[in-house]
Amino acid sequence: MMIEIAPSILSADFSCLGEQIKIVERAGASLLHVDVMDGRFVPNITIGLPVVKALSRATRLPIDAHLMIVEPGRYAEQFVEAGARMVSIHIEADPHAHRTLSAIRSAGALAGIAINPATPLSALDEAVKFADYVLLMSVNPGFGGQEFIPSSLDKVRRLRKMIDERGLKTRIEIDGGIDSDNIAEVTSAGAEIIVSGSAIFGAADPATAVRELREATVLWV
Ligand code: DX5
Ligand code: ZN
Repeated sequence: MMIEIAPSILSADFSCLGEQIKIVERAGASLLHVDVMDGRFVPNITIGLPVVKALSRATRLPIDAHLMIVEPGRYAEQFVEAGARMVSIHIEADPHAHRTLSAIRSAGALAGIAINPATPLSALDEAVKFADYVLLMSVNPGFGGQEFIPSSLDKVRRLRKMIDERGLKTRIEIDGGIDSDNIAEVTSAGAEIIVSGSAIFGAADPATAVRELREATVLWV
């Protein structure tokens, strides 16, 4: 299993985003996590298509767009066209997840299903096989810098089991409150793609923070 570190730009300095991205790229980040919020699905508004487009030109890192928006089916393909290589939609926001996930794949990106802390894994029972990855939220989406919800660890384990028992290749991404103190636990539990915002961009030196996260990771096999 390959562990990938995905810095979330939500906690970056937006006045010099290009430079901030170069720093984490050089430090060995694998992906760039971009949080798209609409002020309706979550109580915050962030950025959208034009920023994804600009970022995809400014970095070699694949862009992982996390859509925290209502009716994601209306926009998902446009995020692929804007340059995102991974696009996730929330299961709570889309009654037609199969259609949206298929559209993301047909447009040429990996399709992910995101799930909130209070949504049971049973909500993924059918949908998991249509996704390339599951983005398990370990905080309530909307803001960076929140504390990891401890029960998320067991949720990762149960999701890992569900995926393995079915012989699926679905990867697990975890998002929210990850730092060098808990990254070993979440990777041991079976998460492979690790999003981290404030622990990287809130640190005095984001490059050192990326390396510390990587060093603190225990490889899960
Ligand atoms: C929260 C976002 C996260 C956020 C994580 O809604 O989905 O990606 O940026 O930030 P930290 O790592 O600070 O919890
Ligand atoms: Zn996110």
